[in-house]
Amino acid sequence: MDVIPLGPGFGAELRGVTLSDVAADDAAYAAVRAAFEEHSVLVFRDQEVTDEIQLAFSRRFGPPEVTKVGSQGTGSHFVILSTIGPDGKAVPPDHRLSLRSKANQLWHTDSSFKRVPALTSILSARIIPAHGGETEFVSTRLAFGRLDPALRLRLENSFAWHDYAHSRGQIAPDLASAEERAALPPQCWRMVWKNPVNGRGAIYLASHAYAVEGMERAAGTKLIDEMIAFATAPGASYVHQWRKGDVVMWDNRATMHRGRPWPSHEARLMIRTTISATEADGVEAMRRPSSQAAE
Ligand SMILES: [Fe+2]
Repeated sequence: MDVIPLGPGFGAELRGVTLSDVAADDAAYAAVRAAFEEHSVLVFRDQEVTDEIQLAFSRRFGPPEVTKVGSQGTGSHFVILSTIGPDGKAVPPDHRLSLRSKANQLWHTDSSFKRVPALTSILSARIIPAHGGETEFVSTRLAFGRLDPALRLRLENSFAWHDYAHSRGQIAPDLASAEERAALPPQCWRMVWKNPVNGRGAIYLASHAYAVEGMERAAGTKLIDEMIAFATAPGASYVHQWRKGDVVMWDNRATMHRGRPWPSHEARLMIRTTISATEADGVEAMRRPSSQAAE
């Protein structure tokens, strides 16, 4: 397996290994897992991807999420990110599917609004537009390292509230349905996720974050906005230009990402699998001490 660095200090393309290799072979999994812990974003090119292969690969990393209510693919292990309507054509820009892809264009980490946050997301390109539709990543681990030590310490001991309805509300007030709101109550997470393998911390924030525990609402929002702006400063990102056969996986503990726009008349279909974080991935230390005691 060859590891080819991609982004500004993070991200790598892996060559000489396929998704099927990782699914079938312990040594291949161990090598890819080590690269994942180190590089945070991994790119596999020219893969022959089916839903089955993608899921078998994904399961290696931990328990797959069951897709939430209100998303295409609900109840399965697949999130279907599509702007294709029942007639096989791209839906208009004001359609709910288009608005949802717009919400994806805000900087975020996947599943921080869920009761169990995500270790990794695995995304495969099935139908890609001719122009645009890239996925852009930043390393919140590198951003954390750029902060001054006093702020790092403060964040390590701070907790932020994450709510799916908050990020969707930035696009349209009712984009999160009543059913989704009921299923996804706000969650509170430490603002720094420490990787148990290498001990490195990363800012843990997303467009879903709306308040900081113990801070006045506006001041908390300001801190969140400043940290997201800091982490996503120009020059810090890796922009992935999708090609057919591409599979990209990322560490939701140590990165943020966003979709980039594409012409709305062009169809796009991506399939995501998402793996929940477990104790071995450092999730217990992310909970507020009071909620740890309560559970
Ligand atoms: Fe995402």
